[in-house]
Amino acid sequence: MGSLSFRKTLAGYLRTVRAVNCEPEQLMIVSGSQQALEVSARVLFDPGSRVWIEEPSYRLARHVLLGAGCRLVPVPVDQEGLNISAGIKAFHRARGAIVSPSHQFPLGSIMTIARRHQLLEWADHVGSWIIEDDYDSEYRYRAMPVPSLQGMDSHAGVVYIGTFSKTLFPSLRVGYIVIPKDLIDRFVAIRHAMDLFPSQLYQDVLAEFIEAGHYARHVRRTKLLYQERRDILVDSINKEFGGGLEILGTEAGLHLTLKVPQQESDHEIALRAAKQRLWLYPLSSSYFGSPQLQGLILGFGNAPEKDIPGAVERLKRLLSPSRL
Ligand SMILES: Cc1ncc(COP(=O)(O)O)c(C=O)c1O
Repeated sequence: MGSLSFRKTLAGYLRTVRAVNCEPEQLMIVSGSQQALEVSARVLFDPGSRVWIEEPSYRLARHVLLGAGCRLVPVPVDQEGLNISAGIKAFHRARGAIVSPSHQFPLGSIMTIARRHQLLEWADHVGSWIIEDDYDSEYRYRAMPVPSLQGMDSHAGVVYIGTFSKTLFPSLRVGYIVIPKDLIDRFVAIRHAMDLFPSQLYQDVLAEFIEAGHYARHVRRTKLLYQERRDILVDSINKEFGGGLEILGTEAGLHLTLKVPQQESDHEIALRAAKQRLWLYPLSSSYFGSPQLQGLILGFGNAPEKDIPGAVERLKRLLSPSRL
C-alpha cells in the first residue's frame, strides 16, 4: 500500500485540502493516476461491464477500460459537467463511471453541485462505482477549488484518484487511490500481482516535503505562475484572433481548449504545428464516438511567459486565414 508515514501525511493533506473522507489505511500509493485507473478497473469491472465515460474524455482512461474488456458508454459533457440524465438514457444500469468533476478533461467544465448529487444518487440507486480522477484540482483560479466528489458521498461508492504529476512533475510517478474500506483487500490482491509495492525513496522525500510546508508553498506559488501564463495565453489568443475563436475551460488546470472552425481538421493543424516545434493536442482524439468539436488542447503549465505570444502568432499562421 505504500509507507504508512507518507500515507498518514497524505491523508491529512487530502482531508484538509480536498475534503476527502479518508484514513491512512485506505490510501494506496501507486505510480501515477494511470496505475490507479488500471488497479481500480481490474477490481471494479469485469470483461463486458458497461462503464460510463465522459465524451470527450482522457484517452488513457479509455485505454485502461478497453484493455480490461469493458464496454464504454460515452456520456456527453456540457458546461455543468457530465450530463447524468443523458447517461441514464444511454445505459441506466452501468457498472461504473469515470469522471473528472473538479476539472473535466479536456473541456474544462467544473461539475455543478446539482450534477454531483445526481451522479451520486444514480450510483447509489443502481449500485455502480464512481472513479473520481482528481488530477489537477489544486489549480483553480479566482475561486477556491471545489471539494472532492468523494467527500460528498455517504455510501462509500467513490474510488478517489490523485497524482503528483501536475503539482510536481510527471516523471516522479507518484499517485494515490483512496479506497472504500470494504474493498481494501481486493485492491491489495490486484496490486500485489502487478508490482508488489511502490518505491520507498520518493515517498519518504515527499512526506518530508509536505510536512515541512514546502508542498503547500509550492502549490501556492505555482498557482500564481500558471494563472499568469493562462492570462497571457488568453490575451494572446484574443489579440491574434480578435475573439473569433471560442476558448473553453480557462477557470482551472494547466490547459485550455481552443475551438477551431468545424471545417478545419485539428489533426492536420497539430501536424503542421509539430513541424514548427509547437505542440498542440487535437481535441477530436478525445472523443470515443464521432468528434462533436474540432479544437486544440493547449497546455500552458510548462510554457515560459515570454514564449507564449510568439507561439500564438505562429499558431495563427497555421490556421487557414480564409476560414477565420
Ligand atoms: C485527465 C488526466 N488524468 C490523469 C493525468 C495524470 O496522469 P499520471 O498521474 O499517470 O501522470 C493526466 C495527465 O495528463 C490527465 O490529463
